[in-house]
Amino acid sequence: MNIVGRNIPHDSARGHVTGESIYVDDMPPLRGELIVDFFWSPVAHGRIRSLNLDRAREVDGVVALLTYRDLHCNLFGPIIEDEILLAEDKVTFIGQPVVIIAAESRDAIKAAKKAIEIDVEELEPIFTIDQAKQKKEFIGPTRHIRRGDADRAIAEAEHVIEGTWINGGQDHFYLESQAAIAVPGEFDQLVIHSSTQNPSEVQHVVAHVIGVPINQVTVVTKRMGGAFGGKECQATHPAAIAGIVAHTTKRPARVVYSKDDDMCVTGGRHPFQNDYKVGFSSDGVITGLKAELYSDGGAYADLSTAVMARAMTHIDNAYYLPNADITGIVCRTNYPPNTAFRGFGGPQGVATIENILEEIATFLGIDAFDVRRRNLYGTDERNTTPYGEIVNNNHLPRIFDELEQRADYRNRVDAVKQFNATSKSELRGIACTAVKFGISFNTKFLNQANALVNIYLDGSVQVSTGATEMGQGVNTKIAQLVADELRVPLERVIVMVTSTEKNNNTSATAASSAADLNGGAAVDACQRLRARLDDVASRHGDLPWEKLVKAAYHERVPLGERGHYATPRIDWDWTSGSGHPFLYYTMGTSCSEVLIDRFTGEMKVLRSDVLMDIGRPINPGVDRGQLTGAFVQGMGWLTTEDLRYTSAGELLSHSPTTYKIPNINDLPEVFNVDWIDVENPVNVAGSKAVGEPPLLMAISVWCAVKHALGFVSNGDIAKLKVPASCEEILARLTAYARTAVER
Ligand code: HPA
Ligand code: MOS
Repeated sequence: MNIVGRNIPHDSARGHVTGESIYVDDMPPLRGELIVDFFWSPVAHGRIRSLNLDRAREVDGVVALLTYRDLHCNLFGPIIEDEILLAEDKVTFIGQPVVIIAAESRDAIKAAKKAIEIDVEELEPIFTIDQAKQKKEFIGPTRHIRRGDADRAIAEAEHVIEGTWINGGQDHFYLESQAAIAVPGEFDQLVIHSSTQNPSEVQHVVAHVIGVPINQVTVVTKRMGGAFGGKECQATHPAAIAGIVAHTTKRPARVVYSKDDDMCVTGGRHPFQNDYKVGFSSDGVITGLKAELYSDGGAYADLSTAVMARAMTHIDNAYYLPNADITGIVCRTNYPPNTAFRGFGGPQGVATIENILEEIATFLGIDAFDVRRRNLYGTDERNTTPYGEIVNNNHLPRIFDELEQRADYRNRVDAVKQFNATSKSELRGIACTAVKFGISFNTKFLNQANALVNIYLDGSVQVSTGATEMGQGVNTKIAQLVADELRVPLERVIVMVTSTEKNNNTSATAASSAADLNGGAAVDACQRLRARLDDVASRHGDLPWEKLVKAAYHERVPLGERGHYATPRIDWDWTSGSGHPFLYYTMGTSCSEVLIDRFTGEMKVLRSDVLMDIGRPINPGVDRGQLTGAFVQGMGWLTTEDLRYTSAGELLSHSPTTYKIPNINDLPEVFNVDWIDVENPVNVAGSKAVGEPPLLMAISVWCAVKHALGFVSNGDIAKLKVPASCEEILARLTAYARTAVER
């Protein structure tokens, strides 16, 4: 009986409920363990005139104070090596580590922080994309994706709209803050327990900063309490800090950020400022798009150039652009480096064109659903992206039409119009948006994985891969794949802790593709094991599994195997801005209706319908969780989560009291989440990746707010930023009411 495709409970579900699940900071203190933290830069941009640690060294319980001089190497970075672990002569953001403090207690650390004397000469900081543009402070090269002649298409278009789409950042708000424990072993060896999506990168950076070969460092990741991209690169810092302390003091070292510190010192989703000019026909069909995308990369490159690449390859979204000219530039500012965050630039690209389509509809007075439907990628023609990849197995037209029916869209648009014509205290808006999300890392070599499958003499099975469990259920999916492939009951299979000792040179659990890649590698290993076992069986007749395993062992047939998977077909070339970067696309549509209080700007989502093509889910329950959770997290980014800073660049909203993530009351009152039943012919078990794409479905909520504002904007196209917070909506309502009076 097939286990793939069934609603198997998450393998940590029981542990999460009973509290048996172990996270890094649940590990009991080891003998001699040190608590480690760091003193950070109090200014956003400056030159360190002096740093005096004398008084701090005398604090009772302080064991070590380390600066960049104590590192073998201070420089690292996942794509561009421009990041330093500890500040040298300059500081470039508030929160930047300057001195590592290792102590016997938290009190000692607190006292040491107070006793550190630093004198910083302040330099002019950069806090906005505009300031960075003015000073030409950019990270990496300016990049282009071009097809046809966008300038000419826009010059010859019947209509043209110009504008700028702006979004704010987002904090990952994982429940478990960044954490690492480093345990010294013999000689230079180290074991690091790390809450990371990327054990291999942690291993590489730790080895690099302390100056030992990679094989001296083992990184172990049992699970994370959420990550969302925030632990793809930035789990490296606490691990490296713990590692250097363990290496120098020969004592175990624990680093666990407090929630507030975590929010202050780590980066988040990139703010973008996207200038666009679009030409279109009188029936709303886009003929040319010119867009310049600017992101706020923060102080160091981190993954910003890859995030920008995904934004650039997602600005087409579900829509055919015959002429396109897309430019992407990453700005360097004096904030913590921004990093991967569920969607990885995709949301900023997709929201830009959804905003454009909403504006085209308002401009022409055509229903926005119809405008989108007319621009949709076709199945036989109008199906090539601006970067040259053909949109294969395109179910977008089907899900658009199905959603229109299921959401009763036409009747509800009429109802919204009627409501807005009569209600003096409230406003409604409705919008349907789409997503087409490219699956594969946009760095080709990252699209590989390996897996280790061991069968034991009682027939039980252990699987180890480079995938890390962050709550998303990847271990459960891999166990299901393995059980089916070996033809054993699920109970016989467990997925083991992730460790660089078993799986080397692994990619981050990211880009939604951990189950695709690691599941593919596990299946590869199982297929070879099963072939060997079938061979044994052919000599013994029909043996039960346990007996077959014993027979194989006695015949000295190996009962362990390593598998490997490399995504086929993909490739990319930046000189031409074209290629086939994605193995396939996960797609979807969503329709949301909102209710706004005209006097307070308060917004409530009345109903959201989500309909996606996620292939044949390996675990429908797990995927439903991803669809629902991602949508709500997207709503947070788009409507309530607002990062505010002082004029000196210090984060003000660094706790849930001032930073509003969605809670149960913010869920759409009616929330229908579903998918069509189609197989994905190019991925493991016919499935599709689901981690990131549904986050972008929440853009329908934001567009519905924009739609609602269109009823009071006195004929102008309503402007709206991300987040469309209560405050932002109220500001728009107030401005439009004023113009109405003046006119
Ligand atoms: N997603 C996540 N992480 C990445 C990617 C991506 O597309 N490319 C490089 N690192
Ligand atoms: Mo992710 S944002 O690919 O960790």
